[in-house]
Amino acid sequence: MPVKQSSLKDAALAGKIDIGDLKVNRLGFGAMRLLGDYAWGRPRDGQHVNRVLHRVVELGINFIDTADSYGPEVDELLISQALYPYPPDLVIATKGGLVRPRRAAWISNGHPDHLRRALEGSLQRLRLDRIDLYQLHAPDPNVPFLESVGALADLQRVGKIRHIGLSNVTVAQLEAARSIAPIVSVQNEYNLRNKTSEDVLSACERLGIAFLPWYPLGGKRGLKAQKIKEVASRLGLSHAALSLAWLLAKSPVMLPIPGTRSIDHLEDNVLAAAQNLGPKELHDLG
Ligand SMILES: NC(=O)c1ccc[n+]([C@@H]2O[C@H](COP(=O)([O-])OP(=O)(O)OC[C@H]3O[C@@H](n4cnc5c(N)ncnc54)[C@H](OP(=O)(O)O)[C@@H]3O)[C@@H](O)[C@H]2O)c1
Repeated sequence: MPVKQSSLKDAALAGKIDIGDLKVNRLGFGAMRLLGDYAWGRPRDGQHVNRVLHRVVELGINFIDTADSYGPEVDELLISQALYPYPPDLVIATKGGLVRPRRAAWISNGHPDHLRRALEGSLQRLRLDRIDLYQLHAPDPNVPFLESVGALADLQRVGKIRHIGLSNVTVAQLEAARSIAPIVSVQNEYNLRNKTSEDVLSACERLGIAFLPWYPLGGKRGLKAQKIKEVASRLGLSHAALSLAWLLAKSPVMLPIPGTRSIDHLEDNVLAAAQNLGPKELHDLG
């Protein structure tokens, strides 16, 4: 009996996207949630986190997003402990440029010295000689933006970074960064509720680079608009799977990175890769 399309679970069904010279399935995984709220400290159940990360890979996801500030440092360690030696096609994207002196603090540090040290720490924790995608987590208002990007360009030149990405930037910052370094991706907040980065998404489309929407499911608050409920129930999908299917349909450069600590939710999210929303659904979702 043919398998119903909507019951297929494999991130490869979302198609592929280029991260520079690398190709990954167009549905990734955001690893920050493995740590729970605030992304602070070690998870209560390390064995469970291991199982989630193994299931991520089994489901065909070959792009995992993390950052040195998640934990801090813990998230990268969990990934290497669970998955090293890595599957050959797995791309681990990490970020530097934010520090966490305490649980509720996320403080920018885009000084070149800090970024060089941060990158060395990520290489060690992830047990890599080179980071496939290293993203500046956010511009630092106290450091000229191009000094931060320039530091990453230097690290790319010496072979410690394969590709450079940006996060939490404007179109003007993206353009400025591109004048001194090849940029392959941007990671900004974007979902059915918050489309303020529409201009950045359009710029990524124009440039043919990946756009990684963070909070693709609206973060911990979730996305609960009535229109999402209606379309989801019509299609027999969860809000989460529909929200991800909408992102995938919205743009060919979209690479969602939903986060979860639950294997059931992870499997539900991967169902989005098999969906193909039509014009009516896209219209109804706005
Ligand atoms: N660049 C930045 O500044 C920045 C900022 C924030 C996040 N990020 C990145 O973006 C990734 C995604 O963001 P996020 O994880 O904060 O938010 P998200 O993916 O929008 O949502 C995660 C939340 O949704 C729940 N969830 C996941 N799948 C679900 C499902 N199928 N049904 C019901 N609930 C579900 C999760 O809870 P359960 O664990 O219970 O499933 C969690 O509370 C992060 O992991 C991180 O890598 C980047």
